[in-house]
Amino acid sequence: MSEDTILEFRNVTKEFPGVTALSDVSFKVKRGEIHGLCGENGAGKSTLMKILAGVYPYGTYSGTVLYNGKELKLQNSAIQAAVREGIAIVYQELTLVPAMTVAENIFLGREPVERGSIDWDRLHSETRSILEKYRLDVRPQDVVRNLGIGQMQMTEIAKALSEDAQVLILDEPTSALSEVEIDRLMEILQTLKARGVTCIYITHKMNEFFRITDQLTVLRDGKVVSSQPTAELTPEKVVGLMVGREMKERFPRGARQPGDVILEVQDLHAEWAGREVLKGVSFALRKGEILGIAGLMGSGRTELVMTLFGEFANVTSGAVKLDGKPVQIKGSQAAMRHGLGLVPEDRKRFGLVLPQSIVRNISLANLGQFGGSLAVDEDSELAASTRMAQDLAVKAPSVQVAVGSLSGGNQQKVVMAKWLLSNPQILIMDDPTRGIDVGAKYEIYKLMNALAERGIGIIMISSELEEVLGMSDRVMVMWQGRSQGTLDTREATQERIMTLATGLA
Ligand SMILES: Nc1ncnc2c1ncn2[C@@H]1O[C@H](COP(=O)(O)OP(=O)(O)OP(=O)(O)O)[C@@H](O)[C@H]1O
Ligand SMILES: [Mg+2]
Repeated sequence: MSEDTILEFRNVTKEFPGVTALSDVSFKVKRGEIHGLCGENGAGKSTLMKILAGVYPYGTYSGTVLYNGKELKLQNSAIQAAVREGIAIVYQELTLVPAMTVAENIFLGREPVERGSIDWDRLHSETRSILEKYRLDVRPQDVVRNLGIGQMQMTEIAKALSEDAQVLILDEPTSALSEVEIDRLMEILQTLKARGVTCIYITHKMNEFFRITDQLTVLRDGKVVSSQPTAELTPEKVVGLMVGREMKERFPRGARQPGDVILEVQDLHAEWAGREVLKGVSFALRKGEILGIAGLMGSGRTELVMTLFGEFANVTSGAVKLDGKPVQIKGSQAAMRHGLGLVPEDRKRFGLVLPQSIVRNISLANLGQFGGSLAVDEDSELAASTRMAQDLAVKAPSVQVAVGSLSGGNQQKVVMAKWLLSNPQILIMDDPTRGIDVGAKYEIYKLMNALAERGIGIIMISSELEEVLGMSDRVMVMWQGRSQGTLDTREATQERIMTLATGLA
């Protein structure tokens, strides 16, 4: 192994019951480079990183991992061992303890101690200096439970940075970050690179690979299909390598004719915890229309759809009309009875029961279809859930396995399946393709088109402007709790949307 190779995988294979997650994986990572790792949902990215981080210790996989020229043999209590070896990881799923503060989470298990008890002053001042050094927008004493998911993700990153690692692994670190936060993270990574830190970077956002990585390894079905300098690649080539076929268009265009107005919102105001979160929102949604909602983090997008769904905020004034009739929706059960469905932003918290099977998770919101909650017709439940799981290409050994054992992206597909099966008249999707690979995104887009063609009205929140422009008929732009304007996507541009979203219009 040459001097400038810090890590080398040799024929690494990892099996789970019924699944070969990694098969003969071999590639090298150079010291000080930013090495991208990409592949479709379930390709094996997180599993490979968990081997490095000691979640799957030596002996639970076959093959060899060389680290600084020596075989890495992380034994039991392997996670601590990985930290000692200088390997830090930001997991795809958040691992923070919700009831603890930011400072307690960052130094969990290695708190500064003074005469046998925790030195709180030092804990807070050291946390503060990490947060300041990286200009992260949280406070040491904030309780994690009260943070937004973007802030939680930043805390998770701060925790890994505080370990002063030689190798920093980031598994989809930007899925919940705003543009500004992503820019900051990119700067941090450049700084670390200049200091000689090696970084392995996983994302489903193609532009981030081309912005930040030196080398790119592509996994497909647990095998390495390519490992080469990013400069030799193009996004199209990478997508082709990932999915094993060429993808000509990213956004399938449906031929549809929006019908009558099904939902009308007039000057909606709402408050939560004494704060006005919606300050006048008006729009109309037609049958068979896809309405995009764009806006920066904090613009009120999620607050709006949660309020429509009867959760979260209290409506203080304004009107919501369904089929021309004013309604007041209280709670998600009522929303569903009114024909609304919601694919929530935070799917872990609101979308899935992790220990339960794929079938049960998909049918959970729809037990009414299968004979009610007391006597479920298990055959039709199984048939319908299996069909949905297949339509979305959920990757799993069977539909009976626990949702918690699926890869991150595949868990999200299960949430989608659940709501698609519930046959709503209006389907609200909050960032539906976050963390989902290009191939599966395309499948979801096709499903959205099919639903719209059946007359369902779709509201789609998205942070990806390309997706908003590619998929919706019209886009409403929000800024500071208000609707700033609604544009026809045939005429809208990214610049025009950003102008409205930043309040410059
Ligand atoms: N603990 C586990 N038990 C059983 N199977 C698992 C477990 N962890 C992962 N798998 C399976 O191994 C395969 C690889 O999963 P992995 O999480 O590594 O994918 P990934 O590339 O990170 O995907 P994503 O982009 O969706 O996060 C998948 O088929 C997954 O279902
Ligand atoms: Mg993963």
